[in-house]
Amino acid sequence: MRSHYCGELNESLIGEEIEIAGWVNRRRDHGGVIFIDLRDRKGLAQVVFDPDRAAPFAVGEQVRSEYVLAIKGVVRERPEGTINEDMVTGRVEVLVSEVEVLNSAETPPFMIDDDSMGEDIRLRYRYVDLRRPVMQKRIQLRAAVTRQLRSYLDNSEFLDIETPMLTRATPEGARDYLVPSRTHPGEFFALPQSPQLFKQLLMVSGMDRYYQIVRCFRDEDLRADRQPEFTQLDIETSFIDENEIVGMMEEMIRTLFSEVLDTKLDDKFPQISYDEAMQRYGSDRPDLRVSLELIDVADLMSEVDFKVFSGPANDPHGRVAALCVPDGSSMSRKVIDEYTKFVSIYGARGLAYIKVNDVDAGRDGLQSPIVKFLPDETISGILERTGAKSGDLIFFGADKAKIVNEALGALRVKVGEDRGLMSDEWKPLWVVDFPMFDWDEKSDRWNAIHHPFTAPNSDQLEMLESDPGKVYSRAYDMILNGSEIGGGSIRIHKPEIQERVLQVLGIDEKEAQDKFGFLLDALKYGCPPHGGMAFGLDRLVMLMSGSSSIRDVMAFPKTQSANCLLTGAPDQVSDQQLRELNIKLRKVHKSEE
Ligand code: AMO
Ligand code: AMP
Repeated sequence: MRSHYCGELNESLIGEEIEIAGWVNRRRDHGGVIFIDLRDRKGLAQVVFDPDRAAPFAVGEQVRSEYVLAIKGVVRERPEGTINEDMVTGRVEVLVSEVEVLNSAETPPFMIDDDSMGEDIRLRYRYVDLRRPVMQKRIQLRAAVTRQLRSYLDNSEFLDIETPMLTRATPEGARDYLVPSRTHPGEFFALPQSPQLFKQLLMVSGMDRYYQIVRCFRDEDLRADRQPEFTQLDIETSFIDENEIVGMMEEMIRTLFSEVLDTKLDDKFPQISYDEAMQRYGSDRPDLRVSLELIDVADLMSEVDFKVFSGPANDPHGRVAALCVPDGSSMSRKVIDEYTKFVSIYGARGLAYIKVNDVDAGRDGLQSPIVKFLPDETISGILERTGAKSGDLIFFGADKAKIVNEALGALRVKVGEDRGLMSDEWKPLWVVDFPMFDWDEKSDRWNAIHHPFTAPNSDQLEMLESDPGKVYSRAYDMILNGSEIGGGSIRIHKPEIQERVLQVLGIDEKEAQDKFGFLLDALKYGCPPHGGMAFGLDRLVMLMSGSSSIRDVMAFPKTQSANCLLTGAPDQVSDQQLRELNIKLRKVHKSEE
């Protein structure tokens, strides 16, 4: 039906007869002459209906926004004064000789060039929303990204191998989506939270280098960068150590940015340990576009009368940290109150501050609700350690380390954004040397920080049982501009170590055999040393496209409450289907809803 895309027409085609097809973006009636902007995947073309050509003109008079047309005509130069330099095709137009209405359209729920629509209506009419040029660009970018990643991996001897969707639970820390089995009454499949166990089995099989662009399912609390089903670029390799994997993955991402965005990333991504990341940035996914850092001041506070500070300063699980904001002393009371409210989301009970009006004037040069509680040597210690200058403001967090890290870690990025302290660069890095386990107060046991198949640091094996909290793992995360875009590890390839790690996690032999017996068995049949990682493809494309939500780079995403406004899923099913599945629904009581 067409010889060219609308968005491709240019001056080289002047005088040629062409055929284009697409949607009516806008129709304008200029006293006798009708102009239509016809839109397709590549852009807009202006087509002209001349009243001297009665048949096409009559059609041109009838069409409305979003009608689908096929047009034949001759490309001509636009008359002087009607050239549109903002449009790629703005120097030419098509004089219509034939037009066919391929389909009419009802008035769309919103105009294609309206960027102010609420997300609910966009998701309900996603097929219309996806016609918007910005969405077309994002989806096209996503395809360019997967094409480039595949090509890189294909050229590096990786095999693209599929793994099952109907499977057993894989522990990645979220709830499973379950699928009832009809043929095994009372039994359920789980949709994979990741292909973790299968990719390890593929290494046992000698596949050596595996990748897959694969859907993963996690029933967890959703946020802007989390969806119940999302896509991983999943990778596993054998006979490799962490340095080689990290180097290879870095090169893949560098090549991706260079090929798709024409952007050069650092020759070597910086690496920092988990402990250092927490100490300096209060986060294991630090946004290095903001240079502000948290500074420990607990040792200066241990003797002060102010309990808010001396309490956490003397608590082994406490932290007292400062964040110095350059030129921050101009902040109004209202702004400081807003930041105080912001940190309270993370459980902080307050946000003490010192405005440094004149750093050389001692106590008199400071403005603060707390300096009256602090002795001179503490004050001079704080000023010295933070390097505060006249005109700066110092914020303080004092609480359990977890709360201070989350609160000041988030505040650091927010203040950076608000006050123009965020650089306009790509800031990738690796966070390495994660602890193996963290203590879960609620369930009173150790949790795997990565997943239970991650190898512990080989020098610390003897501490696995005696001091699990001190054992580090061979895991690594890739962070880009404050977002965790990928994570992985060297895996355990010896069955006895795998069993010991499961035991630390409180999974006894029977349960281990029950849940992961197939993996434990496989480790006994000649498992090579192996490791890998998985990238969150949606997050990567979100960052690359400059979007603020992964929903914007998924064709058909779900809402924050994990439903699909387009199809209405999830939905009830018929009694007959339930009966076939041997499922009887329990009445949900009002109090449980
Ligand atoms: P992990 O659980 O860290 O590791 O997941 C890998 C990457 O997937 C992305 N991601 C998500 N993206 C969108 N929505 C979600 N709900 C979501 N959850 C995770 C993140 C994350 O970095 N099997 C291991 C990988 C390995 O060890 O090789 C795994 O799944 O960007
Ligand atoms: P208060 O004595 O409770 O009025 O607190 C004095 C100052 O300390 C106020 O600016 C509070 O915001 C701040 N503050 C209180 N608790 C904390 C805390 N846990 N961490 C940091 N600052 C706090």
